Amino acid sequence: MTKSVPLSLPDISDKEIKLVSNVIKSGWLAHGEWNKKFEDSFSNFIGVKDSITMNSCTSALEIALKVNKIRGEVIIPSMTWCATANAVVNAGAKPVFCEVESKTRNVSAKTICPLISSKTEAIIVVHFGGQTCNMDEITKLAKRSKLLLIEDSAETLGGTWKKKKAGSFGIGCFSFFPTKNITTGEGGMFTCNDKSTLDKARALIGHGITNSTYDRERKKFKPWIRESTYAGHNFRMPNPLAALGFLQLKKIESMNKNRNKLANYYNKKLKKFEFITTPYCHKDVFHSYQMYTIEVDKRIRDGFVNYLRSNKIGASVHFFPPVHKQPFYKDKKNKVNLTVTDELSKRLVTLPMYSALKKVQIDYIINTINKFKY
Ligand SMILES: Cc1ncc(COP(=O)(O)O)c(C=O)c1O
Repeated sequence: MTKSVPLSLPDISDKEIKLVSNVIKSGWLAHGEWNKKFEDSFSNFIGVKDSITMNSCTSALEIALKVNKIRGEVIIPSMTWCATANAVVNAGAKPVFCEVESKTRNVSAKTICPLISSKTEAIIVVHFGGQTCNMDEITKLAKRSKLLLIEDSAETLGGTWKKKKAGSFGIGCFSFFPTKNITTGEGGMFTCNDKSTLDKARALIGHGITNSTYDRERKKFKPWIRESTYAGHNFRMPNPLAALGFLQLKKIESMNKNRNKLANYYNKKLKKFEFITTPYCHKDVFHSYQMYTIEVDKRIRDGFVNYLRSNKIGASVHFFPPVHKQPFYKDKKNKVNLTVTDELSKRLVTLPMYSALKKVQIDYIINTINKFKY
């Protein structure tokens, strides 16, 4: 008998715990040798020149904007976690909220285009829940309009558009929060192909200093000289967490494969419920299913989520309210029509999804839904 099914659960093996413990015992707890190992394997996996470990995806987004001195308007979806917008505000720029397509829940060239003005400087796309945006159209639009393209890939590690990985089209920003496809507890990654952007970003996350303590201590000549070229931050990832990320990344393909199998199983089992719409996946996308999100009638949505939760099923909603209706943003929003976003935020339900979820747990969820009265 299944007792409870959480919304998500990190998959951390004994081998990973042992490595983290050994790294802690080594005494090198701050940014260190495992950061470089994690970054190299990440770059290899995504297909980019280099990657930079950070303390969160939000920091990576803020750094992407600051490195490029973006202070004007930045087009972002409202159908996202508030971190996307907060990074824009904290970088000193202005978020302009963009509509999404109802099927993919992603922004598209069609929804972005009307918002481009002389004040626009960048676009941040969010690959919602693991589904990569249509990057053919968006890359072309950004290039034609001379706009910086940033991919908030917090939810899409391993996801692809036409076999090319999310995070390799523009500057990629990833999250390793425990609900994501791999975890380091808190953590993020910045991916890029441009050397000067990478160099500036590295300095900005470490007090504006162009090399790390670990690298400096290995230099023969005056390692105590630390030159600060920018008023930087401390957005670094600690060495033990980088070691965890390094081993987590080795499992990403098999974990994403499991997520896909589970999503297909959900799709098959949920088909019989007329009040449920299962998620759409574009034919050119490999979905990383960071979330498995269904839609139900807005009149019953909250009751349905409460019903599942009262049966110990960790259902939730991503995202309500959408960012343009969050207390901080509601008076600042642009005049654009966000009807699809508003509708989706009232209809979406996130069901449990994680790589170690069992089919028998999904069966329990289906049996519980069978007894739902509306
Ligand atoms: C789309 C999106 N962007 C940004 C973030 C923020 O990630 P982090 O917690 O690593 O800063 C999240 C995390 O929930 C997210 O889902």
